[in-house]
Parts: sequence; C-alpha cells; structure tokens
Amino acid sequence: MTTERILIVGAGGQIGSVLTDALRQNYGNDHVIASDMRDLGAQAGPTEVLNALDGNALDHLVQKWKITQIYHLAAILSATGEKDPMWAWNINMSSLFNVLETARNRNIRKVYYPSSIAVFGESADRDLTPQTEVLIPATVYGISKVAGENWAHYYFHRYGLDVRSLRYPGIIGYQSMPGGGTTDYAVDIYHYAVRKEAYTCFLSENTRLPMLYMDDAIRATLELMDAPAEKLTVRTSYNLAGMSFTPAEIAASIQKVLPGFQISYAPDFRQAIADSWPGAIDDSAARADWGWAPRYDLDAMTHDMLSHLHP
Ligand code: SER
Repeated sequence: MTTERILIVGAGGQIGSVLTDALRQNYGNDHVIASDMRDLGAQAGPTEVLNALDGNALDHLVQKWKITQIYHLAAILSATGEKDPMWAWNINMSSLFNVLETARNRNIRKVYYPSSIAVFGESADRDLTPQTEVLIPATVYGISKVAGENWAHYYFHRYGLDVRSLRYPGIIGYQSMPGGGTTDYAVDIYHYAVRKEAYTCFLSENTRLPMLYMDDAIRATLELMDAPAEKLTVRTSYNLAGMSFTPAEIAASIQKVLPGFQISYAPDFRQAIADSWPGAIDDSAARADWGWAPRYDLDAMTHDMLSHLHP
C-alpha cells in the first residue's frame, strides 16, 4: 500500500484530467486529490476547489490531505496569454511560486511542473531543437515557462526540492479538450472529422509543429516522476518529442480513414506564435536519462482518435 498522497493543481484541464485518472489507477483513488478553480463534481477520488493564486489555501490543502507530491498543471496557455500578458504572467508565476514555496515548507517529496515548446523562439534551431538552446520566446506564456524552468532548477539546487519537468509539445487526446493554445487545432480537427464537418484551420497548411499523443504524454510524465533522481541530469525541463506534422499532413492522415473530410485554411494571430516555434525537437537527453520513447506516430494517433470519438 502506497504512502504517497498526490495533489493535482489544475485537474480540470486538458492534461490534468487525464493525468488524474492515470495516477488514481497507479496509486488508488483516495491517494490522488484533484483540485481546480472550478468544482470538478463527483469523481472516483477526492476533489477540492482551489484557486492556485491563493497560497494559504494551497498550504491548507497540503496539510489537510498530508500531501507528499504535487503536480502543478494550471496555466494560461500561449494564445490566451497574448490577449492579456500581465494577467497571464501573474497567474503562471504566482501559482508556481505558491506551489514551490508550499512544497519547500511542507517537505513535499516531488513536484511536477510542465514546461513547453513555447520556451523556444525564433533564434532556436527549428529542425531539431537541442536540449540546451538559447531561449528567447515570443509569447508571455513562453517567457513564464522559461522563468518557471529556471525557478525549478533553482529550488532543486538551493533547497533540494525534487522538481521534475517536461517541455510538452502540442498534446492531442480524445479524452479532453485543450483551451487557449496554438496547437489546439490538432484536437479540434478530429472532432470536426467525426461529425463529417469541414474544418477551417487557424494555422496555414505547411506549419510544422512538434506534437504528442495523450497516452504518450501521460506515460512520459509518469515515467519521469518514477525515474531514480540520480538519473536526471536536466533540472530545468526535458525536451520531449513524439511526432511532427503540418495541418495538411494531419488532414491527409484523417482522409485515409474518412476520405470525404475537407480542410481549408484561415490563419489568424496564432500563426505568428506557431511560426516562432520549432518544427521538431531533439529529446535525446530524455531518451538517455530515463528511457523515453514515444509509441504513437501520426497515423496510429489518427486511428485511435477516430475510434474513440463519436459524432
Ligand atoms: N499546447 C501549448 C500551446 O499551444 C504549447 O505548450 O500553448
């Protein structure tokens, strides 16, 4: 029987909701406390309403549930962040500081904090961005993740807090919807396809971005968190890759299964964000340190998505 008690902050989000289920499978329903600023309703395990900007409330929950690990998934993503940069900065950084300070003060064993491909900017190598790249992001979301990675690194070296992090690419899954990101089209497109509706993409047809299937993203997260601490050489955030494709290529993958599917393109402000990001990233440090390997390519993902989604 595990003694771990895990708090998920942002458990109502695209990744947090799926991660909650996966952690409950592994640790038992009552060992995983799902928190979000919205009421999560009845679930298989405990839930709490938590505004991550309220450090006292977070501290209270950690004591109440005798928490040993925190997964901090709450954030304002790239596209939404550009609408109000100071608001996004405040939410992303204040919530992280609350998690790091509570973790330090309450002797939390491990913290998970996701970073993103958004840390890279136009100065980065776009074809296979290395782990140690110059980080000059184009979005406030990216700036907050660069800062957050460095704070994770700082808390590890200064206080010995075991913070672990992955630079997620765009995450695609049937279980949940993304919100406010630049890679969201790659989830939306499948929902249109199963409804037999044409899709208008907000990125141009040849915009290549790194992406990852949800199953792989969850497995990567659990594998990183289970890895022996001494194996981890990266204490900012690991590059994590799965596949890379363009809107035209995902449409072609869908058309192999649904030949009538149609796509058109109407790029909006998110095009500039996508253009500042790499097309593919080099995750050899993750592979070497903790054995990362993705399982899904584009067509395997398409088959799985289309078999789970219903009109
Ligand atoms: N999916 C995220 C976004 O588009 C990238 O981290 O903002």
